[in-house]
Amino acid sequence: MTVIALIGTGRMATGLGTGWARAGHQIVFGSRTPAEKQHLTADLPGARVTDYAGALEDATVVVITLPYREVAPFCRSHAAMLRERLVIDISNPFDNLPDNRIAGAEITRDAIGPGARVVAAFKTNFSTTLLTPFNADGIQRDVFYAGDDEADKRIVAGLIADLGFRPVDCGGLHNARILDGMVPLIIELDNRYGGAWQTTWKLLP
Ligand SMILES: NC(=O)c1ccc[n+]([C@@H]2O[C@H](COP(=O)([O-])OP(=O)(O)OC[C@H]3O[C@@H](n4cnc5c(N)ncnc54)[C@H](OP(=O)(O)O)[C@@H]3O)[C@@H](O)[C@H]2O)c1
Repeated sequence: MTVIALIGTGRMATGLGTGWARAGHQIVFGSRTPAEKQHLTADLPGARVTDYAGALEDATVVVITLPYREVAPFCRSHAAMLRERLVIDISNPFDNLPDNRIAGAEITRDAIGPGARVVAAFKTNFSTTLLTPFNADGIQRDVFYAGDDEADKRIVAGLIADLGFRPVDCGGLHNARILDGMVPLIIELDNRYGGAWQTTWKLLP
Protein backbone atom coordinates (compact mmCIF):
# COMPACT_ATOMS: atom_id res chain seq x y z
CA MET A 1 0.00 0.00 0.00
CA THR A 2 1.34 3.40 -0.99
CA VAL A 3 0.19 6.75 0.37
CA ILE A 4 -0.42 8.81 -2.77
CA ALA A 5 -0.98 12.57 -2.69
CA LEU A 6 -2.97 13.87 -5.63
CA ILE A 7 -2.47 17.62 -5.91
CA GLY A 8 -5.68 19.00 -7.43
CA THR A 9 -9.19 17.56 -7.37
CA GLY A 10 -10.27 17.65 -11.02
CA ARG A 11 -10.90 15.00 -13.66
CA MET A 12 -7.47 13.36 -13.59
CA ALA A 13 -7.19 13.45 -9.80
CA THR A 14 -10.58 11.84 -9.25
CA GLY A 15 -10.03 9.19 -11.92
CA LEU A 16 -6.57 8.23 -10.67
CA GLY A 17 -7.65 8.49 -7.03
CA THR A 18 -10.63 6.20 -7.58
CA GLY A 19 -8.55 3.62 -9.42
CA TRP A 20 -5.75 3.58 -6.88
CA ALA A 21 -8.15 3.52 -3.91
CA ARG A 22 -9.81 0.46 -5.47
CA ALA A 23 -6.35 -1.11 -5.79
CA GLY A 24 -5.78 -0.63 -2.05
CA HIS A 25 -3.67 2.54 -1.97
CA GLN A 26 -4.31 5.36 0.45
CA ILE A 27 -5.34 8.60 -1.28
CA VAL A 28 -4.92 12.16 -0.03
CA PHE A 29 -6.17 14.97 -2.25
CA GLY A 30 -4.55 18.40 -1.97
CA SER A 31 -6.90 21.27 -2.78
CA ARG A 32 -6.94 25.06 -2.70
CA THR A 33 -10.38 24.78 -1.09
CA PRO A 34 -10.46 21.47 0.84
CA ALA A 35 -13.64 22.32 2.77
CA GLU A 36 -15.55 22.46 -0.53
CA LYS A 37 -14.14 19.15 -1.82
CA GLN A 38 -14.94 16.77 1.07
CA HIS A 39 -17.60 15.00 -1.03
CA LEU A 40 -14.79 13.41 -3.09
CA THR A 41 -14.03 10.98 -0.28
CA ALA A 42 -17.59 9.60 -0.09
CA ASP A 43 -16.90 6.52 -2.21
CA LEU A 44 -13.18 6.22 -1.45
CA PRO A 45 -12.53 4.40 1.82
CA GLY A 46 -9.71 5.98 3.81
CA ALA A 47 -9.30 8.95 1.44
CA ARG A 48 -8.88 12.53 2.71
CA VAL A 49 -9.02 16.01 1.23
CA THR A 50 -6.78 18.61 2.78
CA ASP A 51 -4.54 21.53 1.78
CA TYR A 52 -1.38 21.09 -0.29
CA ALA A 53 1.07 20.81 2.63
CA GLY A 54 -1.22 18.42 4.52
CA ALA A 55 -1.52 16.19 1.48
CA LEU A 56 2.25 15.99 1.06
CA GLU A 57 2.95 15.16 4.70
CA ASP A 58 2.48 11.37 4.75
CA ALA A 59 2.77 10.70 1.01
CA THR A 60 5.67 8.87 -0.57
CA VAL A 61 4.33 9.47 -4.09
CA VAL A 62 2.94 12.83 -5.26
CA VAL A 63 0.94 13.15 -8.46
CA ILE A 64 0.63 16.74 -9.63
CA THR A 65 -2.73 17.08 -11.39
CA LEU A 66 -2.77 20.88 -11.67
CA PRO A 67 -3.11 22.89 -14.88
CA TYR A 68 0.36 23.14 -16.47
CA ARG A 69 0.83 26.83 -15.63
CA GLU A 70 0.30 26.08 -11.92
CA VAL A 71 2.81 23.22 -11.74
CA ALA A 72 6.14 25.08 -11.55
CA PRO A 73 4.87 27.66 -9.00
CA PHE A 74 3.51 24.78 -6.86
CA CYS A 75 6.85 22.95 -7.12
CA ARG A 76 8.86 26.02 -6.17
CA SER A 77 6.73 26.75 -3.12
CA HIS A 78 6.81 23.11 -1.89
CA ALA A 79 10.29 22.19 -3.12
CA ALA A 80 11.68 20.97 0.19
CA MET A 81 8.87 18.44 0.71
CA LEU A 82 8.81 17.38 -2.94
CA ARG A 83 12.55 16.61 -2.97
CA GLU A 84 11.93 13.83 -0.47
CA ARG A 85 9.15 12.25 -2.54
CA LEU A 86 8.63 10.64 -5.92
CA VAL A 87 6.75 13.12 -8.12
CA ILE A 88 4.62 12.04 -11.08
CA ASP A 89 4.05 14.88 -13.54
CA ILE A 90 0.96 14.35 -15.69
CA SER A 91 0.55 17.95 -16.88
CA ASN A 92 0.28 18.90 -20.53
CA PRO A 93 2.03 22.12 -21.60
CA PHE A 94 0.33 22.41 -25.03
CA ASP A 95 1.42 25.82 -26.40
CA ASN A 96 3.08 26.97 -23.19
CA LEU A 97 6.45 25.61 -24.33
CA PRO A 98 8.15 27.41 -27.20
CA ASP A 99 9.21 24.22 -29.00
CA ASN A 100 10.01 20.60 -28.27
CA ARG A 101 13.59 21.07 -27.06
CA ILE A 102 12.63 20.70 -23.41
CA ALA A 103 9.90 18.67 -21.72
CA GLY A 104 7.37 20.18 -19.36
CA ALA A 105 8.52 17.51 -16.87
CA GLU A 106 12.09 18.85 -17.07
CA ILE A 107 10.78 22.27 -16.06
CA THR A 108 8.94 20.57 -13.19
CA ARG A 109 12.18 18.83 -12.15
CA ASP A 110 14.12 22.11 -12.26
CA ALA A 111 11.43 23.92 -10.27
CA ILE A 112 11.82 21.33 -7.49
CA GLY A 113 15.60 21.66 -7.68
CA PRO A 114 18.57 19.39 -6.97
CA GLY A 115 17.56 15.90 -5.86
CA ALA A 116 14.16 16.07 -7.57
CA ARG A 117 12.69 12.65 -8.45
CA VAL A 118 10.31 13.27 -11.36
CA VAL A 119 8.66 10.75 -13.66
CA ALA A 120 6.34 11.90 -16.47
CA ALA A 121 3.29 9.65 -16.92
CA PHE A 122 -0.39 9.63 -17.94
CA LYS A 123 0.14 12.68 -20.16
CA THR A 124 -1.23 10.90 -23.21
CA ASN A 125 -4.20 9.20 -21.44
CA PHE A 126 -7.60 10.91 -21.44
CA SER A 127 -9.26 11.22 -18.03
CA THR A 128 -12.32 9.56 -19.58
CA THR A 129 -10.37 6.29 -19.91
CA LEU A 130 -8.75 6.06 -16.48
CA LEU A 131 -11.31 3.58 -15.12
CA THR A 132 -11.51 1.48 -18.30
CA PRO A 133 -8.00 0.08 -18.77
CA PHE A 134 -9.38 -2.29 -21.41
CA ASN A 135 -11.25 -0.75 -24.35
CA ALA A 136 -14.54 -2.03 -25.77
CA ASP A 137 -12.64 -4.58 -27.90
CA GLY A 138 -10.80 -5.94 -24.88
CA ILE A 139 -7.48 -4.33 -25.80
CA GLN A 140 -5.42 -3.21 -22.83
CA ARG A 141 -4.58 0.48 -22.91
CA ASP A 142 -0.97 1.63 -22.55
CA VAL A 143 0.35 4.32 -20.23
CA PHE A 144 3.58 5.84 -21.52
CA TYR A 145 6.04 7.09 -18.93
CA ALA A 146 9.54 8.59 -18.93
CA GLY A 147 12.12 9.30 -16.24
CA ASP A 148 15.81 9.16 -15.42
CA ASP A 149 15.83 6.89 -12.37
CA GLU A 150 15.17 3.20 -12.97
CA ALA A 151 14.02 2.47 -9.41
CA ASP A 152 11.53 5.36 -9.49
CA LYS A 153 10.28 4.20 -12.88
CA ARG A 154 9.68 0.72 -11.48
CA ILE A 155 7.49 2.24 -8.77
CA VAL A 156 5.52 4.22 -11.37
CA ALA A 157 5.19 1.15 -13.60
CA GLY A 158 3.74 -0.73 -10.62
CA LEU A 159 1.21 2.03 -9.96
CA ILE A 160 0.21 2.03 -13.64
CA ALA A 161 -0.24 -1.74 -13.54
CA ASP A 162 -2.31 -1.41 -10.35
CA LEU A 163 -4.82 0.60 -12.40
CA GLY A 164 -4.98 -2.25 -14.93
CA PHE A 165 -2.99 -0.51 -17.69
CA ARG A 166 0.17 -1.70 -19.44
CA PRO A 167 3.15 0.47 -18.49
CA VAL A 168 5.38 1.44 -21.45
CA ASP A 169 8.84 2.77 -20.56
CA CYS A 170 9.67 5.60 -22.98
CA GLY A 171 13.21 6.20 -21.70
CA GLY A 172 14.72 9.24 -20.01
CA LEU A 173 12.86 12.31 -18.79
CA HIS A 174 13.99 14.29 -21.85
CA ASN A 175 11.78 12.00 -23.94
CA ALA A 176 8.76 13.40 -22.12
CA ARG A 177 8.99 16.30 -24.60
CA ILE A 178 7.80 13.80 -27.22
CA LEU A 179 4.92 12.72 -24.99
CA ASP A 180 4.04 16.43 -24.66
CA GLY A 181 3.80 16.60 -28.44
CA MET A 182 1.69 13.44 -28.68
CA VAL A 183 -1.09 15.03 -26.65
CA PRO A 184 -2.35 17.64 -29.15
CA LEU A 185 -1.98 14.96 -31.84
CA ILE A 186 -4.17 12.42 -30.03
CA ILE A 187 -6.79 15.11 -29.45
CA GLU A 188 -6.72 15.83 -33.20
CA LEU A 189 -6.94 12.12 -34.04
CA ASP A 190 -9.70 11.45 -31.52
CA ASN A 191 -11.73 14.30 -32.98
CA ARG A 192 -10.98 13.37 -36.61
CA TYR A 193 -11.85 9.66 -36.21
CA GLY A 194 -14.80 10.04 -33.82
CA GLY A 195 -13.04 8.63 -30.79
CA ALA A 196 -15.37 10.31 -28.26
CA TRP A 197 -12.41 10.78 -25.87
CA GLN A 198 -11.83 7.01 -25.72
CA THR A 199 -8.71 6.98 -27.92
CA THR A 200 -5.40 5.79 -26.47
CA TRP A 201 -1.91 5.51 -27.96
CA LYS A 202 -0.98 1.80 -28.18
CA LEU A 203 2.44 0.31 -28.81
CA LEU A 204 2.10 -2.83 -30.93
CA PRO A 205 5.34 -4.79 -30.90
N1 LIG B 1 -8.19 15.83 -18.74
C1 LIG B 1 -7.40 14.95 -19.35
O1 LIG B 1 -7.88 14.08 -20.10
C2 LIG B 1 -5.91 14.98 -19.11
C3 LIG B 1 -5.15 13.91 -19.59
C4 LIG B 1 -3.77 13.86 -19.33
C5 LIG B 1 -3.19 14.90 -18.61
N2 LIG B 1 -3.96 15.95 -18.18
C6 LIG B 1 -3.29 17.00 -17.41
O2 LIG B 1 -3.63 16.79 -16.06
C7 LIG B 1 -3.74 18.04 -15.39
C8 LIG B 1 -5.13 18.11 -14.77
O3 LIG B 1 -6.11 18.01 -15.79
P1 LIG B 1 -7.65 17.87 -15.42
O4 LIG B 1 -8.34 17.65 -16.69
O5 LIG B 1 -7.82 16.95 -14.28
O6 LIG B 1 -7.95 19.38 -14.94
P2 LIG B 1 -9.15 19.90 -14.06
O7 LIG B 1 -10.29 18.96 -14.12
O8 LIG B 1 -9.38 21.32 -14.47
O9 LIG B 1 -8.56 19.87 -12.58
C9 LIG B 1 -7.45 20.66 -12.20
C10 LIG B 1 -7.48 20.83 -10.69
O10 LIG B 1 -6.35 21.62 -10.32
C11 LIG B 1 -6.68 22.46 -9.20
N3 LIG B 1 -6.23 23.83 -9.51
C12 LIG B 1 -5.25 24.51 -8.88
N4 LIG B 1 -5.07 25.71 -9.42
C13 LIG B 1 -5.96 25.83 -10.43
C14 LIG B 1 -6.26 26.87 -11.35
N5 LIG B 1 -5.58 28.04 -11.37
N6 LIG B 1 -7.26 26.67 -12.24
C15 LIG B 1 -7.94 25.50 -12.24
N7 LIG B 1 -7.68 24.47 -11.39
C16 LIG B 1 -6.70 24.64 -10.48
C17 LIG B 1 -8.19 22.35 -8.99
O11 LIG B 1 -8.41 21.66 -7.78
P3 LIG B 1 -8.89 22.49 -6.46
O12 LIG B 1 -10.00 23.40 -6.93
O13 LIG B 1 -9.38 21.46 -5.51
O14 LIG B 1 -7.70 23.24 -5.97
C18 LIG B 1 -8.70 21.55 -10.18
O15 LIG B 1 -9.72 20.66 -9.82
C19 LIG B 1 -3.49 19.13 -16.43
O16 LIG B 1 -2.16 19.55 -16.34
C20 LIG B 1 -3.74 18.41 -17.75
O17 LIG B 1 -2.98 18.95 -18.79
C21 LIG B 1 -5.29 16.00 -18.39
